[in-house]
Amino acid sequence: MRNTVGWQVEGPSPALRRTPLERRDLRPDDLAVRVDYCGVCHTDLHAVSSWDGAGGRRLVPGHEFTGVVTETGPAVTRFTVGDPVAVGNIVDSCGECAMCRAGQENFCHAFPTLTYDGTDRHDGSTTLGGYSREYVVRDRFAHALPAGLDPAAAAPLLCAGITVWEPLHTLGVGPGTRVAVAGLGGLGHLAVKIAVALGAPTSVVSRSPDKAADARRLGAHGLIVSTDPEQLADARDRFDVVIDTVSAPHDLGPYLRLVAMDGTLSHVGHLGPVTVETTDLLVGRKKLSSAGSGGTPATAAMLDFCAEHGITADIELLPSARVNEALDRLRRNDVRYRFVLDMSDLD
Ligand SMILES: NC(=O)c1ccc[n+]([C@@H]2O[C@H](COP(=O)([O-])OP(=O)(O)OC[C@H]3O[C@@H](n4cnc5c(N)ncnc54)[C@H](OP(=O)(O)O)[C@@H]3O)[C@@H](O)[C@H]2O)c1
Ligand SMILES: [Zn+2]
Ligand SMILES: [Zn+2]
Repeated sequence: MRNTVGWQVEGPSPALRRTPLERRDLRPDDLAVRVDYCGVCHTDLHAVSSWDGAGGRRLVPGHEFTGVVTETGPAVTRFTVGDPVAVGNIVDSCGECAMCRAGQENFCHAFPTLTYDGTDRHDGSTTLGGYSREYVVRDRFAHALPAGLDPAAAAPLLCAGITVWEPLHTLGVGPGTRVAVAGLGGLGHLAVKIAVALGAPTSVVSRSPDKAADARRLGAHGLIVSTDPEQLADARDRFDVVIDTVSAPHDLGPYLRLVAMDGTLSHVGHLGPVTVETTDLLVGRKKLSSAGSGGTPATAAMLDFCAEHGITADIELLPSARVNEALDRLRRNDVRYRFVLDMSDLD
């Protein structure tokens, strides 16, 4: 085993502590990656907040990181030592089912191996995430980080970015598509940047009117205040695509009513049961969809697109020792728009 160090939730306490960790010895198709920067996703916060440590499992969050290859297994051909790489929230899949064959490993019928709190397909161990100094990953699930992308600000592309790229791309968003993004956070601000770069006139729907100037700076036309019934009524039926990134359970009705005839509400935020009033779909033949993460071809395409258009996240970079502060502030919606942890303080 290889020794490293990371930030782990201890028992039922929500605080993360610096802890020695072990990584597996490299399999033939594995890379060892020195993790330099790891984004703090709201999913990490959901995981930490609900963690009970049952069954002695361990939680080391982190599933959007960039770093440098430090060692390669003998069967690795795509990478060599020193290459800058990026890893998202999937680190393996069955490779044989229809979804994997279609390059949609994120929908693997045998369930993809998640970067943390997943189960390794070979040794059954629980995967430990990127809030650590080293990660060992199967080469197929590492992505070359395109030159020109700042490695700290690019880290959030690997979860937040790909999660909004897939629906924007597959819904055919382009010049003239009227897009609204609900929730201006980590996912939301990247959805705005990508939709704008795709040529789509884009608006933000937010409960935070003080984000209006940021919305415009990001390229949006404006911000609709989601708590103002008059503004919502004015925006009725106005958008071909609404990307809902809100991180708390909520009623979909107000967002469906923003969708134009035959348009789509893509719900990629808080996962869990939702209640839908069918007349909110019926009136205007609207569609409700969801998505999560992305396959390896889409992730590579998203990274190329972001490199071409100079898109990275707006980040606040903190030493990893301040991870608990980052999670507390994320809980309070006090981030513009993604915390990224600098792992170099773990050396
Ligand atoms: N589908 C997937 O694969 C996938 C991948 C990554 C994340 N997620 C999920 O997506 C959600 C967003 O993640 P994130 O990292 O972007 O979170 P985030 O940075 O905290 O952003 C979430 C935004 O939602 C809005 N919001 C938060 N609480 C709200 C409430 N109670 N009512 C209304 N709006 C609220 C806020 O925007 P405003 O201030 O503008 O209203 C906030 O900035 C999380 O639930 C996360 O678990 C899903
Ligand atoms: Zn995430
Ligand atoms: Zn599969």
